[in-house]
Amino acid sequence: MHILRRPGWHIGENQATPETVFVNRRRVLAGMGLGLGAGAAGGLAGNLAFPVRAMAAGEDPSAGLYPVPRNEAYQLDRELTPEDVNRRYNNFYEFGSHKEIYNAAQSLKIRPWEISIGGEVEKEMTVAIDDLLKAMPLEERLYRHRCVEAWSMTVPWSGFAMKALVDYARPTSAARYIWFETFLDKEMASGQAQFWYPWPYLEGMTMAEASNDLAFLVTGAYGKPLAPQFGAPLRLALPWKYGFKSIKSIRKITFMRERPVSFWEQLAPTEYGFWANVNPEVVHPRWSQATERVLHTGERVPTLLYNGYGEQVAGLYAEVGKTEKIFY
Ligand code: MTE
Repeated sequence: MHILRRPGWHIGENQATPETVFVNRRRVLAGMGLGLGAGAAGGLAGNLAFPVRAMAAGEDPSAGLYPVPRNEAYQLDRELTPEDVNRRYNNFYEFGSHKEIYNAAQSLKIRPWEISIGGEVEKEMTVAIDDLLKAMPLEERLYRHRCVEAWSMTVPWSGFAMKALVDYARPTSAARYIWFETFLDKEMASGQAQFWYPWPYLEGMTMAEASNDLAFLVTGAYGKPLAPQFGAPLRLALPWKYGFKSIKSIRKITFMRERPVSFWEQLAPTEYGFWANVNPEVVHPRWSQATERVLHTGERVPTLLYNGYGEQVAGLYAEVGKTEKIFY
C-alpha cells in the first residue's frame, strides 16, 4: 500500500524509521517501479535470497488439529501459490512497510491469545484461541487472494465460516456491522512505533457480508497452523474484496450499530474505502485494476469482477450499490 497523499501529520519515513528499514523500503519501492503503480510490484526474486526462520515444531499448540478436511465446494481455476513463495511476500505493516517482513513477524507472540467479543451481543465474552478452535467446525478452502496493489495468490486456508462465529457470539438485532481489531504492542511489533499510522489496524464488514458463505475466519494455511506472517492465530479472508480487508492477528471483535472507518480508510479514504470490492473496471486513483500479477508465475492475467466470486456475493450489493460506491 503506498500512501502518497499523506495527512498533514504524516512525516517522512526517513525521519522516523531506522535507516536499515528505510533503505530496504527504498530498494523495494525501486523494484516496484513506484509511479507506474503498485501493479508493477516485483522484488520476489530478491526475496528468495533471504532465509525464513521456520516455527519450531510444537511451538504452536494447535498443530495437532491440522490438516483439516477440505471443503470441495471451493475450487480454483489456477494452481496454488507455493507455500514458500507466500511465506516470503506479505503485507503486515505492524512488522514493516514492505513485503519482506517474514523474519520480523516471527516475534509475534501467539500464545496466550485471547479474543474479546463485545458490543451489541447478548453477553460480552473473552475466549482463548484454543477454546475457540475447539468450538468451531474447521475446514480447508482454496481461495483466491487479490491485493489492491494488483498482485494475486491462491491459498489453501484452514479455518471456519464467519457465520459460525456470528452464531457463537449471539449478536442482538441492533448489530449492523462487525469491527475487527488487531493487537497493540509496539515493543513486539516495531511498525506500531510509526506513530503516523492509526494503530491498531482496524477493519469491518456488514452483518449481511458476515453471513455470506464465503466470509471465512482463517486459523491455518497449507495444512498447518497459520505462520505469524500470515496473521496468526486468527485472520479474515474475504476473497471478493481487496486483501487489505482481510485483517490479521485479530484480538477484538465488536458488533456495532455504526460503520467503522478502517485503518487504510483513515489514511486515504478515496483509495481504500469501506466496501473495497474487486472490480477490474474501477481504476485505483493511481493505477489500473484491469489485470493482476500472479505472484509465483509473474504472469499478468485479467482481474475478474468480485475477484471471480460474483455469483456468491453480487446480491449483497444490489440495494446499497444504488446509492453508494461499492468498489472503493
Ligand atoms: N492486517 C494487519 N493487521 N496488518 C496489515 O498490515 N495488511 C493487509 C491484510 N491484513 C495487513 C493486514 C493487506 S494490505 C493485505 S494485501 C493482506 O493482509 C496480505 O495478506 P498476506 O500477507 O497473507 O498475503
